[in-house]
Amino acid sequence: MHITVVTLFPELVAAVGESGMPRVAIGTGALTVDTVSPRDFAVNRHRTVDDRPFGGGPGMLMIPETLAAAITEARRRAPGARVVLMSPQGRRLDRAAVQAFSETAGLILVCGRYEGIDQRVIDAMVDEQVSIGDYVLSGGELGAMVVIDAVARRLPGVLGDAASVEQDSFEEALLDHPHYTRPDNWRGQGVPPVLTSGDHRAIDDWRERQRLRATADARPDLFYQRGLDDRARALLTA
Ligand code: ADE
Repeated sequence: MHITVVTLFPELVAAVGESGMPRVAIGTGALTVDTVSPRDFAVNRHRTVDDRPFGGGPGMLMIPETLAAAITEARRRAPGARVVLMSPQGRRLDRAAVQAFSETAGLILVCGRYEGIDQRVIDAMVDEQVSIGDYVLSGGELGAMVVIDAVARRLPGVLGDAASVEQDSFEEALLDHPHYTRPDNWRGQGVPPVLTSGDHRAIDDWRERQRLRATADARPDLFYQRGLDDRARALLTA
């Protein structure tokens, strides 16, 4: 799949390809990422991309024409790609949204800066708005990088072990279980004995129980939404 990021800070976004699953996905050719900067479409000598809001108020807005020109260039590179504006006004990014994005041929991730972008560009050119959480960031770039990272690990052939996506936390609407590596005694703290027992069924049960408890504890919303199947009930009452 191809992702174009419309951003005034291309060098910031480029860092997402330097590690982890985006790096793997780019290496295998499953993913290509490029950037378009509105500044390259600025018309005046100062290459201005922002202006004061009509009606007053603090801060500046990205002006429509340079942003629209950048989105048009992104569309030319990836015809048919969904145009997604990163914004705290958007729908919250979750596993289902990441999965849906990973099944598209392409995305154009538009990053706002300053106080935001002119509403007319949103109305004319944006298919949907996505937020990564209920807080305001300096711009959409970190959100775009979150989308790219989360999408990359779901592209076919990217995770070496096919089981890994299924094993990922959230695949079953559960948080992850704790993990341990050597040494088996670290600063006086041991490792749960079941993990060194060699009994794989007991280990699976222990991990599942830990996942259920962690979810009930930290994310009761997920826990109740998921409900309890027979196995979960048996694990929790054992
Ligand atoms: N831009 C600014 N804040 C954001 C957020 N919470 N999510 C996505 N993009 C943003």
